[in-house]
Amino acid sequence: MAGRIPQTFIDELIARADIVEIVGSRVPLKKAGREYKACCPFHDEKTASFWVSPDKQFYHCFGCGAHGTALGFLMQYEQLPFPEAVEELAGRLGLEVPHEGGGPAPARAQEDLTELLGRVAGYYQENLAGNERARAYLRGRGLDAAIVERYRIGYAPDAWNEVLRRFGATDESRRALSATGLIIERDTPRPGSEPWYDRFRDRIMFPIRDPRGRVLGFGGRVLEGGEPKYLNSPETVLFHKGQELYGLHEIRLARTSLKRLVFVEGYMDVVRLHQAGAAYAVATLGTATTPEHLKRAFRLVSEVVFAFDGDRAGRAAAWRALQNALPEAREGRELRFLFLPEGEDPDSLVGREGREAFETRLERAMPLSEYLAAQLLLQADVSHADGRAKFVALARPLLAKLPQGVYLELLLARVAQEVGLGAERLRELLSSDLAAAPDASGDADHPELARGRGARLRRGAARGGGAGRRGLVTQAIQTLLHFPAIAASVPAAVYPALADISEAELGGIDTLRSLLEALRAQPRRTTSQLLEEWRERPEHRRLGELHAERILLDGTQAGAELLGILDRLIGQVDAERQAKRYDELLRKVDSGSASAEERMEFQSLNRRPGTRPS
Ligand code: CTP
Ligand code: MN
Repeated sequence: MAGRIPQTFIDELIARADIVEIVGSRVPLKKAGREYKACCPFHDEKTASFWVSPDKQFYHCFGCGAHGTALGFLMQYEQLPFPEAVEELAGRLGLEVPHEGGGPAPARAQEDLTELLGRVAGYYQENLAGNERARAYLRGRGLDAAIVERYRIGYAPDAWNEVLRRFGATDESRRALSATGLIIERDTPRPGSEPWYDRFRDRIMFPIRDPRGRVLGFGGRVLEGGEPKYLNSPETVLFHKGQELYGLHEIRLARTSLKRLVFVEGYMDVVRLHQAGAAYAVATLGTATTPEHLKRAFRLVSEVVFAFDGDRAGRAAAWRALQNALPEAREGRELRFLFLPEGEDPDSLVGREGREAFETRLERAMPLSEYLAAQLLLQADVSHADGRAKFVALARPLLAKLPQGVYLELLLARVAQEVGLGAERLRELLSSDLAAAPDASGDADHPELARGRGARLRRGAARGGGAGRRGLVTQAIQTLLHFPAIAASVPAAVYPALADISEAELGGIDTLRSLLEALRAQPRRTTSQLLEEWRERPEHRRLGELHAERILLDGTQAGAELLGILDRLIGQVDAERQAKRYDELLRKVDSGSASAEERMEFQSLNRRPGTRPS
């Protein structure tokens, strides 16, 4: 974290922010005289007692007492720590957050890296100016000089070490270049030549910037045929593909208010749409749309439209986007899908039809609920009972991803309509999977009321992401691979608990255990030695990948980090076992076959605070 943010700046932020806009893009507000009101987002209520005053630039809930400024609202609603809420608000207003004094080293080091990337971007731009072939390519793609300038598009020369030579004069600068992924170390150094070479050669360069314009990485396109068509910077300390959206900075500069964002697949789509006057498109960076991407988008706008290519890959990407969008679907947010004609992408389409025709298509984009229903109808024929059962079975895991709320109700109603059931009946059928609705029953003596609790417990156990659990194993392995010496800091008491977990319960646990044991036996082993030993095993490749990725940890934190991960992992497996046991007992209690001990165990599970439904 950098130095303190001056109070004068915070005052200015509050003065310039519009609380109605900030709150209104997240909570549907109704005008009431000079003020606005809504159902309070911070507690459960049926009548509106949450007020927003544009005059006072303040919100207040008469129900739960929540109150504050635009900044306070962001912190409370988005669960942001203070400095991030300040960044968020400042970014929205296009302001740079000043810091008093310097920040500690890590933040400054990152600043230095973006500054370096910025200079390299400038160099690529100069190169473009001097290279007629590259300029002709961009002209051929229909881009004019102004848009090329605005997106700072450049050209990386056809040479193996121009960037290295210009920006990597010292050891330190070479380390920095390598940390940003601009240069790559040779596997087998050749005598008499540099051990490094430039990653990007003879490519059109698209700088990828954060919302405030700092360069984080690049995407590079070949001019003529060649593989791969696009080459991107790797994941680095600066660049996280699962979070960044290409074009966000440029469109925020271009517009004061942004109503919706259109997610597209490619760099060219963003740039070409912008040139055509549609300055509201962003692209994910060669990765699937993640919930993180959507969180970012919904901090700015209340509507997202996906406009992916009209080919098989584009349609697959749309379906994946839908799945990742579900956890972010909630009241006040609109999610829609635009399906382009076969063989078109937004770039080609806006080139042929122009902006207005593209926007007409946007207006007609399909709401998420329709797309979901249509997609399931392709897979299940609801004209007969089996097909309807299949439809519900397919809908089940999707609906389970939605948070409780109006959106879930809407989708339930839509699915219910397809299978000819009442929404209430459908909710009952799915109750064990849906986000817990407020639940009045807590009575252990009425097992029929408690049905579904086991499943909820299990969800609770897996919270932090179903994939999060698998993620913990991966994180542990990765931490070990980067800092093998920390294996020595794992207390002996942890081993039996780990030994007790089977691969079936937790994928990857066998590998983690073998690694820990190998390192415990020979603590001074380096990761390369370890990987060598693994060469013949199927996990070798995956381990190599994990080792190659950078992680945001230094050696001093790694031991504690690993222990924390192992601890959570063991805790989660334990909670999951309890949930399973609960289901088992519930079945027995239900059918009357439970012994006296089992009944007691069942009741004690019910009373345990952590295992009650919330
Ligand atoms: N992409 C990538 N790596 C590749 C191919 C594609 O990262 N090897 C990403 C890029 O962000 C690219 C996007 O996926 O912009 C879409 O790819 P594609 O549809 O193949 O390219 P277009 O954007 O249509 O590119 P162009 O119009 O320049 O051919
Ligand atoms: Mn294209």
